[in-house]
Amino acid sequence: MIVYFSGTGNSYYVAKSLLKEGEELVDAMTAGKAVLRGGRLGVVYPCYCGDMPPALIAFIKRSDIDKPDYTFAVCTCGLNEGRSFASLKYLLCEKGSTLDYAEKIVMPDSCVLFAFSQKKVGKLLGKQDEKIKNIKEKIANGERTEIKAKKPLGMRTKTVWFMFGRLMGIYKKYSLNTCNGCGTCVKYCKAGNIKIRDGKAVFGKSHKNCYECFACINACPQCAVRFGRLKNTEEKRYIHPVYKEKIK
Ligand SMILES: Cc1cc2nc3c(=O)[nH]c(=O)nc-3n(C[C@H](O)[C@H](O)[C@H](O)COP(=O)(O)O)c2cc1C
Ligand code: SF4
Ligand code: SF4
Repeated sequence: MIVYFSGTGNSYYVAKSLLKEGEELVDAMTAGKAVLRGGRLGVVYPCYCGDMPPALIAFIKRSDIDKPDYTFAVCTCGLNEGRSFASLKYLLCEKGSTLDYAEKIVMPDSCVLFAFSQKKVGKLLGKQDEKIKNIKEKIANGERTEIKAKKPLGMRTKTVWFMFGRLMGIYKKYSLNTCNGCGTCVKYCKAGNIKIRDGKAVFGKSHKNCYECFACINACPQCAVRFGRLKNTEEKRYIHPVYKEKIK
């Protein structure tokens, strides 16, 4: 089984590429929980603020994972995996398992604040399949990585999320008057946090109903989504091309 979490499609693409024939692909954003007895377990996700996405942490905690033969993680990130491997190992150890192998893949950054140039995006996407192939071989050979388990969401991660929320005000999401009610953001929002009302996108009031996945702000063709002070532009918008086709 491969569990994935993905806002803008990088992790979806990696998870799907690593999948073996007949193996189950579980979307942590929409499935209630994962149930696994033996077999291999892969977890593919983006690094958020130096750790695993908080909603993925909650998903792993409530999942029923019993003695997988081999466990691996692939973190897609703009820079690095932060402490996410240590966090995942901690969560798996709590279930009597472990994390055998972990690897990062640098991919286009979905966090609008650090968006890459289109040239860099093209370069990274050009290299993705080679990197995935390499990881696939290592997993097939049962390679192991030394990882020290650490409790998820340490002080540094919490502080970055706090600053992100407070300074940038990203928890306050809204659409501008340029929103034409096309519904693209609704299709991308797996949290069901966006509705079209009177021809405009309206976001849920509580940030607790949002994965902070940045899919909506990247997908909007009008660049009409605002996260507090954070806005997007045509040049900075990013959705993985294969994921874009899937959501269409
Ligand atoms: C809220 C948020 C926080 C992020 N924090 C980090 C980070 O701390 N380090 C990093 O390397 N990339 C960070 N990124 C970039 C993503 O990890 C990266 O683009 C990832 O591949 C996106 O995966 P997805 O397309 O599957 O959603 C962040 C992105 C978002 C939306
Ligand atoms: S994608 Fe943009 S234009 Fe379309 S409904 Fe959402 S906010 Fe409005
Ligand atoms: S509202 Fe936007 S950021 Fe929040 S879960 Fe939906 S698509 Fe992701």
